[in-house]
Amino acid sequence: MNYNIRIEKNKNPKQKPDESKLSFGKVFTDHMFVMDYNQTDGWNDPRIVPYGPLSMDPSTCVFHYGQGIFEGLKAYHTVNDKIVLFRPEKNIQRMNISNERLCIPKLDEDFTVEALKELVRVERDWVPKSEGTSLYIRPFIIATDPFLGVHPAHTYKFIIILSPSGAYYPGGINPVKIYVEDQYVRAVRGGTGYAKTMANYAISLKAQDEAEKKGYVQVLWLDGVEKKYIEEVGAMNVFFKIKGEVITPALTGSILPGITRDSVIAMLKKLNIPVTERKITIDELIQAANDGDLEEAFGTGTAAVISPMGELSFKGKSYSINDNKIGPVSQKLYDSLTGIQYGKIEDPFNWITSID
Ligand code: PLP
Ligand code: COI
Repeated sequence: MNYNIRIEKNKNPKQKPDESKLSFGKVFTDHMFVMDYNQTDGWNDPRIVPYGPLSMDPSTCVFHYGQGIFEGLKAYHTVNDKIVLFRPEKNIQRMNISNERLCIPKLDEDFTVEALKELVRVERDWVPKSEGTSLYIRPFIIATDPFLGVHPAHTYKFIIILSPSGAYYPGGINPVKIYVEDQYVRAVRGGTGYAKTMANYAISLKAQDEAEKKGYVQVLWLDGVEKKYIEEVGAMNVFFKIKGEVITPALTGSILPGITRDSVIAMLKKLNIPVTERKITIDELIQAANDGDLEEAFGTGTAAVISPMGELSFKGKSYSINDNKIGPVSQKLYDSLTGIQYGKIEDPFNWITSID
């Protein structure tokens, strides 16, 4: 393939948003990266072009059968005035795992990381500087055949868009209220839970909507077969600290293998805090809460960073965690992770990649 990325500059750049008012995923930059796939040329014509609408035939198969996947990562403006990415190669590896599950042709991972960096370089002035803000990066792939048969497409578009963003939850790092979902399920083994497919999110909307109407921020999913084992939250993996040990559900195929999850496990090990990946039932968690042994609970994700859970609701009963305050381990992890990302502390894991 042609590794030269063509750049077409936007002649009408937008005004940058007021950083103090940034929320999540509402403002987009002046350019986007686009690359096409067809069976003759493979992935071809990589280009950075002005951000704008796509024109597609109404029969385009992604509209009908959802053959599409995405990723989410961030660029940070460090305290030393550098623009850096956090483990971008991991997102691109996961993208190929998602591609494989949805019959989408794989990307060249090294090239894709370079393309992502090139786009961020073009848009570097869009990376916000204020505390807690970042440039959210959304790569995604859609199937583009104009065809109504249920069949893997022969043509695709890979696009990367960028969004200067603030906190994912309006409350920032304040503890969130979580609803344990015991009716709807998100994924089953053999399904697509481990991949970042668009359909996984479509399927989650009803439970999320009902939980929000009851005053909860997100749902905690249980396994799709027995509704017994804890899986993850809508946009985060989960960790519980019970009697000094940090436990996170093992990756069984129906959970997204989060990059923040992987990073948190590594940080806990370095801090000599016991951490275990294993199956954990909702009954065990509720028992620990009742016995006063549930010391902390938090979610991890790119968008949400480290998000303490202040309250869990299960079968009509509410359980407060650590008096609805952020616990010391969650705080330490938040400070270490964001410290590395914003260049405030050393990066002993080599997770940071500068775009220059
Ligand atoms: N689980 C789900 C369902 C998610 O959407 C996300 C966010 O991407 C995560 C977990 C956390 O993954 P990561 O840490 O790679 O952002
Ligand atoms: C992320 O954390 O990057 C996500 O993709 C979560 C959500 C916005 C879907």
